Amino acid sequence: MRPIQAPFPATRLRRTRATAAIRSMVAENTLSAADLIWPLFVREGTGVEEPVPSMPGVFRRSVDKIVEAAREAAGLGIPAICLFPYTEAKNRSNDCSEAWNPDNLSNRATRAIKSAVPEIAVMTDVALDPYSDTGHDGFVVAGKIVNDETVEALVKQALSQAEAGVDIIGPSDMMDGRIGAIRAALEAAGHEDVLLLSYAAKYASAFYGPFRDAVGASGALQGDKKSYQMDPANSDEALRLVERDLREGADMVMIKPGLPYLDICRRVKDAFGAPTFAYQVSGEYAMIMAAAHNGWIDGERAMLESLMAFKRAGCDGVLSYFAPAVARILASEQ
Ligand code: PBG
Repeated sequence: MRPIQAPFPATRLRRTRATAAIRSMVAENTLSAADLIWPLFVREGTGVEEPVPSMPGVFRRSVDKIVEAAREAAGLGIPAICLFPYTEAKNRSNDCSEAWNPDNLSNRATRAIKSAVPEIAVMTDVALDPYSDTGHDGFVVAGKIVNDETVEALVKQALSQAEAGVDIIGPSDMMDGRIGAIRAALEAAGHEDVLLLSYAAKYASAFYGPFRDAVGASGALQGDKKSYQMDPANSDEALRLVERDLREGADMVMIKPGLPYLDICRRVKDAFGAPTFAYQVSGEYAMIMAAAHNGWIDGERAMLESLMAFKRAGCDGVLSYFAPAVARILASEQ
């Protein structure tokens, strides 16, 4: 596209910026509650809302409180929530079998939400890190994260989530071949309508720190995740991963983290045109909240601006811990 314009003063680009009415007429992108997926942390207990210190305003909620949050989200027009379990040490093990226990925390929360607030879409995470004693997303054998054995376990985990009634499964593990394996297993088990939102381009990032606190994985993690998550130096590789996952049966793809990787979002959307999501991760949330709490930035404006940036970069939606706050602001502006 080559914009055509007359020389100054026939063209004055400030004309279309002069008033709120004109600005809204020419706005190229919009942000709405329908663009948001709200990640929620689930823990054991009843009536519990436990603050996550590194993520002010974010809580670990017991299943009953998760149901309340789901109802709140639906009321705000947020179409989906994404569940992450905080697993107690006793449920972490070498074989990660809690991951496919039909009655694990994540599956119990899914069932409770689907029976109380059926209209909201429930998304879950497929990866072994909440259940492994090493904090890794896959099995560790002789110091290596083994791929194919892990994929077998991920398939069992995904099937147990589908049985519990999730709408969207989000494999975040970055093993090779898991999308095809999970898709085939879902089809074979009669779960042909379950969506796969692949964390296709997930980087080995420093911005996941507060999340690992939230799910109790910080202490557990041995080493780093660089042998399976992407190198922040790479961009072409992200396109190869997205293409691979789409060919294996992903319905939607995700780029993660968000703001530092907007270039990847734009390339992925332009190259494939598939439903494309970004994850504004815990560290991004924490940075904005910390600066806002110090009075260094206007937190409300910063969260809105950061989310609009994803829309501008071509994303169809964003997983964001800001989801309910932003939905409330957007509703009050109408
Ligand atoms: C783990 C997982 C992580 C996040 C989502 N799923 C952390 C990791 O890979 O170590 C991070 C989300 C966030 O930081 O908000 N499979």
